[in-house]
Amino acid sequence: MVHKFKMASIAVLVSSILFTWQGYLQAKDPKTDIAFPKDYATTFTNYLSLDRVQNDDQVIRLFANDIAIKGMKETGTFPEGSVLVGEVYKAKKDKDGEVIESDLSRRIRDKLAVIAVMEKRKGFGDGVAAELNNGDWGFAAFKPDGTDAKKDLAKCQACHAPLNEMQHVFSIEHLK
Ligand code: HEC
Repeated sequence: MVHKFKMASIAVLVSSILFTWQGYLQAKDPKTDIAFPKDYATTFTNYLSLDRVQNDDQVIRLFANDIAIKGMKETGTFPEGSVLVGEVYKAKKDKDGEVIESDLSRRIRDKLAVIAVMEKRKGFGDGVAAELNNGDWGFAAFKPDGTDAKKDLAKCQACHAPLNEMQHVFSIEHLK
């Protein structure tokens, strides 16, 4: 009797461990092991700079590594190893806190706020739920000094995920 009870509790323990492990896999933390691409400013191509489309007080400068540039030119797709960087800047404001526009009707870059990175690597998309799935693109966000900016990466995934036809890259036409 005691023995049977023990077996049952071991079974419960094992199944709860399995259950937790499965839950962990399903919820897969979007945090990948993307390293800060520290030489991007000198080795990547700055392919576009613009006032951010969905943030009215920011400016972004976009960079792509050679793998991404070459892959898009030759095959129209981003090969594994492609890295895209978005340098997000605060826009300059006047004393009333209004965003200043230049004579060209463009915002003016102020402080670098965050460095947003997308990297394509096999396996990054494994087990990621459909509404967060970006194929094999992984996301990371760094402070200007290269340390983790501790952003909620699920937000990055959710906003880029619907762009299936555009390989999850908003600026794709600028890389074709
Ligand atoms: C609400 C939507 C939204 C969220 C959230 C978002 N992005 Fe984006 N992302 C965009 C848009 C729109 C662009 C195009 C440039 C622009 O206007 O900023 C872009 C551009 C990029 C690019 C350049 C490649 C491309 O898709 O054009 C990278 C890299 C990037 N985002 C990474 C990130 C990371 C990392 C996060 C999370 C920390 C994030 N994004 C969160 C909408 C979003």
